[in-house]
Amino acid sequence: MIFEQIVTGGCQSYLMGCPERCAAVVIDPEASQIDRYLGLAAKDGLRIHYVIDTHTHADHFSGARALKAETGALIVMNKLSPFPFADLRLDDGEILKVGELKLQALLTPGHTRDSMCILAGDRVFTGDTLLIGGTGRSDLPTGNPDQLYDSLFNRLLKLPPETLVYPAHDYKGRSHSDIGTEIAGNPRLQKTDRAEFIAMMEHLDLAAPTHLTEALRTNLSGAKTVAGLLAEAAARVPFVAMDDLAAAIDAGNTGYTLLDVREKDAFDAGHITGALHLPRGQLELRVNDMLPDPTARILTICEFGRISTLAAATLRDLGFTRAAALDGGVKAWREAGLPLVGG
Ligand SMILES: [Fe+2]
Repeated sequence: MIFEQIVTGGCQSYLMGCPERCAAVVIDPEASQIDRYLGLAAKDGLRIHYVIDTHTHADHFSGARALKAETGALIVMNKLSPFPFADLRLDDGEILKVGELKLQALLTPGHTRDSMCILAGDRVFTGDTLLIGGTGRSDLPTGNPDQLYDSLFNRLLKLPPETLVYPAHDYKGRSHSDIGTEIAGNPRLQKTDRAEFIAMMEHLDLAAPTHLTEALRTNLSGAKTVAGLLAEAAARVPFVAMDDLAAAIDAGNTGYTLLDVREKDAFDAGHITGALHLPRGQLELRVNDMLPDPTARILTICEFGRISTLAAATLRDLGFTRAAALDGGVKAWREAGLPLVGG
């Protein structure tokens, strides 16, 4: 068996493969690691057949849909998953075959209603149901501490004690544990009484995870994250360095039509000399009047260098095939001591 654990911050994802049949599965892929999964599979000559999300994640961005787009793999989730793009929805006990490997779904609601664990031979992928020295929280949407109690004490902890535990998160850099070690030492599992366990889970007083809204929105819709949208725009736009633009302005000829896409207040408070003003919000509507020459080299400028990237990408979509963006924005320009006019 081929086994890879991919760590992204506190998130753990997994690639498991059958070398005999050249088949692989990825569990809980993270959106920023798509190329890594593809590279790991390619290194061992594997094709990814399935992408499994153990539940609807509220704390990281799922790479399931992007990985499917690259590989044609089927997206696999719990039968209760609300994700509209799941191809296979597993019921309790159902088995997926990945070459010679067998992966069995254990439906373990509690952290979320659609949580499942994946039992694969000597190991179990516990998602956020059971963590090393902890459990998933049960206070996020569809969470339920009563169900979590059953999923842990009447399900997962009944697996053989030597079963290896591979969770979807670990914030202390640990790779795995096993059921026996968790039963003996996991502080949350010491509350074996249902009522006491529920009371503990209801009083953890945890802060909401960062990116909660965006993670739920994108994980439930399969749509892009803001960072993903910006990265896509940045990948198809060339950038011009601030120093190069400053030197060209000094020399009296930039060769660019400078286009400041910030709001009027910001533009009036100080802009790069010679820049035209066309706010990003009006770009598509006023582009025909303001930019009659589609062959012009247009250089977009904003405050932080992100909106200008989107604006340059939009201009390229509209046929301005030489549009570029300033690398950095007016804020960095100002901080570098470069000159602004107005204000
Ligand atoms: Fe989670």
